Amino acid sequence: DIEMGLRPRKLNEYIGQQKAKETISIFIEAARQRVEALDHVLLFGPPGLGKTTLSNIIANEMGVNIRTTSGPAIERQGDLAAILTNLSPGDVLFIDEIHRLSRAVEEILYPAMEDFALDIVLGKGPGARSIRLDLPKFTLIGATTRAGMLASPLRDRFGIISRLEFYSTEDLTKIVTRAAQILNVSIEAKGAEEIARRSRGTPRVANRLLKRVRDYAQVRAEGDITLDVSINALEFFEVDPLGLDHTDRRLLRAVIEKFNGGPVGLDTIAAATSEEPDTVEDVLEPFLMQLGFLARTPRGRIVTPQAYRHLGLPVKETPLERV
Ligand code: ADE
Repeated sequence: DIEMGLRPRKLNEYIGQQKAKETISIFIEAARQRVEALDHVLLFGPPGLGKTTLSNIIANEMGVNIRTTSGPAIERQGDLAAILTNLSPGDVLFIDEIHRLSRAVEEILYPAMEDFALDIVLGKGPGARSIRLDLPKFTLIGATTRAGMLASPLRDRFGIISRLEFYSTEDLTKIVTRAAQILNVSIEAKGAEEIARRSRGTPRVANRLLKRVRDYAQVRAEGDITLDVSINALEFFEVDPLGLDHTDRRLLRAVIEKFNGGPVGLDTIAAATSEEPDTVEDVLEPFLMQLGFLARTPRGRIVTPQAYRHLGLPVKETPLERV
C-alpha cells in the first residue's frame, strides 16, 4: 500500500506538529529509561492530521507491537476482552474513533486502563460471580476528532492528551517534497508549495493531491510537477487557491442561498447538502472555520463576509450583526 509507504516510521521523520512531537518524545524517553509501558495517550484533532501515523511511530519508538482497531469495530465486551488478553507487556492498543465505543465496552475499558485488570462476569442472576483477570501493562492510544465527544471518565484516564493542529504551508511543502521523493516523481519547489497551499492544512489531502497532480503531469505535460503544472492540474480538479473543493463551496453556497447566510443548525446544513452531520462537523467545518469562512454562534452556523468575497458573491448586508 503506497499510503503506508508514505508514512514516516520514526519521530524524526515526522514533519510538523512540533509541540505534540516534543512532548511525546519526552514521555517516550522517560518510559523507556524506566523500562515501563508508556502512559495512555489521547490524540485529538481533525481527520487526516496524522493520528494513526503518530500512534505507529510511538509503538515503533517504544520498540513494542501495535494492535489497531476502532470504536465501531469493537461491538461487544468480548471483542475487547479478546484483544486485551492477547497483548504483550508494553504493547500499544490503538483505538481509532474511540468516541464511538459503546457504553458496555467502555465499562470494561476503565479497569483495564486503570488497574490493568479485566472483570469478567460468569453466569446470570443470583448465582452470578465475577472474576478478575490480570492484564499485561499496555498503552492505550485513543484517537478522536473532538476531545469533547469523550465521556469524561474515559478522558480522565488518559495521562497524556495531545491535540494535533492544522499544518502550515511550509510543513506541508516538506511533506509533499518527501512524498514526491518516495513516489519517484520530479517536482519543483514552487510546484510542491502550490500543492501544499491547497491542501487544507492536512497531510492526507496533500498526499492525495500530489498523486492526482502527478497523474495530470504525466498525461497532460512532460511528467515533471512544475508550478504551472500544479496550478493547471489543481484548477482542473476544481481545488481553488485556498484549497476549497467542490464540497466546501457547495456547503457555503447552500447556507448562503437556502438560509440567507445563516444562522442555521448543523442538521439543517447536513440535510441541505446531503452529507452526514458528523462529516459536516468533523471533516468540512473545521477547515472552513479555521479560514474564518464559517462561524459558530449560539443560534447556529453563519457564513462570514470573507466567504462571500471568496466566492465572488455580493456581501450580504450585515450577516454578522443579525446574530
Ligand atoms: N506524511 C503524512 N504525514 C506526515 C508527516 N507529519 N510527516 C512526514 N510525512 C508525512
